Amino acid sequence: MKAFALGSKAGSFDLREIDIADPSPSTDQVLVRVHAVGVTPTELLWYSSTHNKDGSARANAVPGHEFSGIVESIGSQATDFVPGDAVFGMNDWFLDGATADFCVASEKDIVAKPASLSHTDAAAIPIAALTGWQGLVDHGRIKAGDRVLIVGAGGSVGLMAVQIAVMHGCRVIASASPSQADTLKELGCEHVLDYKTQAFEDHLKDLDVVFDAIGSDTLARAKPLLVEGGRMVTIAADPKTATIR
Ligand SMILES: NC(=O)c1ccc[n+]([C@@H]2O[C@H](COP(=O)([O-])OP(=O)(O)OC[C@H]3O[C@@H](n4cnc5c(N)ncnc54)[C@H](OP(=O)(O)O)[C@@H]3O)[C@@H](O)[C@H]2O)c1
Repeated sequence: MKAFALGSKAGSFDLREIDIADPSPSTDQVLVRVHAVGVTPTELLWYSSTHNKDGSARANAVPGHEFSGIVESIGSQATDFVPGDAVFGMNDWFLDGATADFCVASEKDIVAKPASLSHTDAAAIPIAALTGWQGLVDHGRIKAGDRVLIVGAGGSVGLMAVQIAVMHGCRVIASASPSQADTLKELGCEHVLDYKTQAFEDHLKDLDVVFDAIGSDTLARAKPLLVEGGRMVTIAADPKTATIR
């Protein structure tokens, strides 16, 4: 099959088209014919692009680990999907990714693609949605009625985070680019602040949760706005320079 892969020298960041053997699904995996792949700009710099799981150097890594496509074949113990099913999801970062004709994924890492969703839209969802879910549900412990500020609400992760918080019955306030205001209101935000003209700290108090998708000084500005026991989650602050007092 055709694939876009990193160079043959371990650690090479030279992405090129190569011919490689079709992957074959192990027992609990499915083989997916890729229709669309999500691209993460920083991925080529990540450990898993240049190293195998055992720490040895990795060459010819195929990037792009979120995708949408059609199940081509299934492993001997796979039970959830059959060939021909439209699916989307992710695969392990140490496996070859989906900038290729085919990729394999564990059944637990994919779901059926609704007919209403295009392959292109579906391939853009998994990592942004997972990031929003882990931040708000696992770490932010959101619950119905919480007042939640999402900073960077109009971006890939922010739009997912808004929908996850609304689904959980939270009252959501967005700080976002004005171009996204109408969309954010349609998704259920109570207030949308234009980050270019409205500093959120001048307008808000008594927040239960802050979700930061921007970094910089967001955490320091947001902390005084939290209620006692409030939570702040960041996916963007630089751990070396972020300070919160
Ligand atoms: N995408 C992912 O799957 C993912 C996963 C994990 C972590 N991350 C990290 O999460 C962060 C956000 O990623 P993303 O993919 O969601 O970004 P994105 O799609 O580029 O969206 C960023 C959004 O934030 C807006 N913005 C810029 N400055 C702002 C500010 N001060 N206050 C409020 N909104 C502001 C931008 O508006 P303008 O159009 O006006 O610039 C844009 O709409 C990045 O640091 C990224 O590395 C992303």
